[in-house]
Amino acid sequence: MRIAVTGGAGFIGSHTAAALAEAGHYPIVIDDFRNSKPFIIDRLKTLCKGKLSFHEADCNDRDKMAGIFEKEQPEGIIHFAAYKAVGESVRHPLMYYRNNVGSLLTLLELQKHYGIEHFVFSSSCTVYGVPDELPVTESSPVKKAQSPYGFTKQVGEQILFDLQSASTPMRSVILRYFNPIGAHSSALIGELPLGEPENLVPYITQTAAGIRKELTIFGQDYETPDGTAIRDYIHVMDLAEAHVRAIAWLAESEEKASAEVFNLGAGRGSSVKEVVATFEEVSGVKLNYRYGPRRPGDVPAIYANADKARKVLGWAVQRTLSDALRDAWHWQQQIHGLPV
Ligand code: UD1
Repeated sequence: MRIAVTGGAGFIGSHTAAALAEAGHYPIVIDDFRNSKPFIIDRLKTLCKGKLSFHEADCNDRDKMAGIFEKEQPEGIIHFAAYKAVGESVRHPLMYYRNNVGSLLTLLELQKHYGIEHFVFSSSCTVYGVPDELPVTESSPVKKAQSPYGFTKQVGEQILFDLQSASTPMRSVILRYFNPIGAHSSALIGELPLGEPENLVPYITQTAAGIRKELTIFGQDYETPDGTAIRDYIHVMDLAEAHVRAIAWLAESEEKASAEVFNLGAGRGSSVKEVVATFEEVSGVKLNYRYGPRRPGDVPAIYANADKARKVLGWAVQRTLSDALRDAWHWQQQIHGLPV
């Protein structure tokens, strides 16, 4: 199938484009490089053996997007293009609502206009807030959002639920990502934080590479076995492959599946300390770190029950935390010294 991948130069988007091509689909990547670099597209073309097309465009630019859809005739859309930094969203809420909600509305209107049947929306486990029970299932309650970023994901989901209620002739899937880490095994593509990373694993790999002085572990007094916060880390290629399964499932399913929600996690919680120890083991590098206060807005522990994705999509993670950290480290070593 011809699949439009918005934000396809970004971290999850680029790996999904690679996985789509690997499965025989044709990715139509759309990105404006506001959170990536053009060399990622060159490398993606190498990985996809040239079987993809690329358009530089802002998804909020309706006319430009309409031109791309007319030319490329996609049969499905995977919509990654969005801002994702919690702290930044608190400082710049309008920017987050305009970009994340605005681009979704533009895409859904174009989807309707061009009769594109399949739609995949990137959501996040942030919609669960501080969960009452672990692991979280798709029916765990959605809590009041802790940040404008979190609220943009809840609003996005609600828009798709409302379209379903209105019996719109479209099939959609909402994927709630836990913590994607790692990189493609070729080390040609990976996570490319511009400036100081906010997320744990790029901070670890940049510290190991000597770009950052030390990692600060945010909080050691959580009610967890070792006192540090617990997350469900998932290899980005496992996550990417779930998108390929989701597109196939939308195309196969007889009934008008719509706004179906899936958790995408490894189903296993790891503490920050465990991630650091595993990284040291796989890289052979002793990490410089210290403990600092808790980061505002962080939840103590969250991990997924991903049984629904396993049963319905026939998907399961294939890679371990060690695999993901090894791949992230290879990628970091490979881009070290590049002007990024
Ligand atoms: C956050 C968002 C998530 C979003 C993701 C991508 C929430 C609750 N989570 O995930 O929705 O999709 O970012 O940007 O809104 N840590 C350190 N030191 C660091 C960095 C992180 O100790 O320098 C710790 C954090 O406190 C946390 C864990 O590492 O316990 C993971 O942090 P991070 O990688 O930033 O992801 P989340 O905050 O879980």
